Amino acid sequence: MFVIRGGQPLAGTVSVSGAKNSALPIMAASLLAEGPTTLKGVPDLVDVDTLGHLLRALGSRVERLPSGDLTFEVQNTRANLADYELVRRMRASVCVLGPLLARRGAACVSLPGGCNIGDRPIDLHLKGLTALGATIRVERGYVIAEAKRLKGANIYLGGPFGSTVTGTANVMAAATLAEGRSTIEAAACEPEVVDLGNYLNAMGARITGLGTPFIQIEGVERLTGVTHTIIPDRIEAATLMIAAGISQGDIRIENVRLDHMTAVVEKLREIGLTIEPSGNCVRVRANSQLKSVDCTALPYPGIPTDVQAQMMALLTVVSGISIVTDKVFPDRFMHLPELVRLGASIRREGNCAIVNGRHHLSGACVMASDLRASAALVLAGLAAEGESVIRRIYHLDRGYDQLELKLNRLGADIRRESDEPKNMPASLILNVSDHAEDLSDPTHELRGPTWLKRLGINQRQD
Ligand code: EPU
Repeated sequence: MFVIRGGQPLAGTVSVSGAKNSALPIMAASLLAEGPTTLKGVPDLVDVDTLGHLLRALGSRVERLPSGDLTFEVQNTRANLADYELVRRMRASVCVLGPLLARRGAACVSLPGGCNIGDRPIDLHLKGLTALGATIRVERGYVIAEAKRLKGANIYLGGPFGSTVTGTANVMAAATLAEGRSTIEAAACEPEVVDLGNYLNAMGARITGLGTPFIQIEGVERLTGVTHTIIPDRIEAATLMIAAGISQGDIRIENVRLDHMTAVVEKLREIGLTIEPSGNCVRVRANSQLKSVDCTALPYPGIPTDVQAQMMALLTVVSGISIVTDKVFPDRFMHLPELVRLGASIRREGNCAIVNGRHHLSGACVMASDLRASAALVLAGLAAEGESVIRRIYHLDRGYDQLELKLNRLGADIRRESDEPKNMPASLILNVSDHAEDLSDPTHELRGPTWLKRLGINQRQD
């Protein structure tokens, strides 16, 4: 857990790590390559480790070099099982489906199951791969996909909430080795999809239309391993910008692609932050009265759903009514009641949260439910008066590379402690079974006081 003493305006310089959501599909696509792949700028995250485990289980050699680069090389192409234990920990594991099918002709990948940010089906991934000629069945919780050689096709990937980012990644990666030409309509335009496409093209793929909803792929016979640098993480950059705003700070952020963040920058300026780009750096200051705004998360180039929770945290301390809407994940509001525990005034209506901003939050004990919710609670903790305790912070370690160290270097006061409840009566240790993910807590932060608790059996003393 984090113990945060709020109230310090942040100041200084910080650098953004490589993008998690680029690194994961690109790592998965390394399964397509003949020869070694080297990735530069891969963030040091639990999710990266989890995918590394999966790739090893699928026959790849995976190594982190002293330089921080990651190398991959397929050594054995017989394995094609992505087991439930790994996929349920990290949904992006599903990105191995397309590459396995295209290169090995068969894949058996666990369905990811439920998630704290809402319903996350993979029907569009399966629709796209089926259109490429795969036969797909779902049995005992696994997707079993087979195809001798995939065949180019026209595929429409639009769904009720727009396109699908990892679905586009899966289908695009698979189509690179298909026979003939494929087109993906309603493709995701996110910079992470473009980064994957650039990596595939460097390996020998023939993809055009990246960054638009119409992607064309001319199938090739083989792809060869290359060296590729992951783009900077636009979600981390946005989180740091919001940290400057919520703490009334003045910071310089390095390794930023502002061209990937136009909607976020525009919204933060509307709120009243001063944002001054220079090269791949940006200075962010909160030197005037901040204003309430309405903010809607949309597919790229809109404001990302992965920034919605952090924006909401900022708006809780800005006077006036703000409406925050999420049109990508309409149920992604688990952070809302926790922000309320910190003193925020927020009401949910469907896919909207109505924030009645005030100047004052006060420290409290709160619980992180997912990666971006954790970030929002850390931001709120920076602004809250007194001490905030944020539990289940292992969610944050899945997707932010040393966020607390970066914030502490900017003057924040964040201490990492064990989540172990100290002297807490067993009657207060409730319902661990509601959070099955904790049982495989990859960072072992929750190394429990008793096996009973780990198994979800609640011991009451009353
Ligand atoms: N959807 C469908 N059918 C599908 C796939 C998606 O209906 O087959 C729906 C989803 O339920 C959702 C919307 O389409 O309402 C968009 O989902 P998408 O498939 O784009 O999400 P994803 O690919 O599973 C990636 C990121 C998420 C990010 C979303 C949206 C990775 C590894 N994950 O997920 O990142 O929120 O795109 O931008 O790239 C995070 O980093 O915290 C995170 C959750």
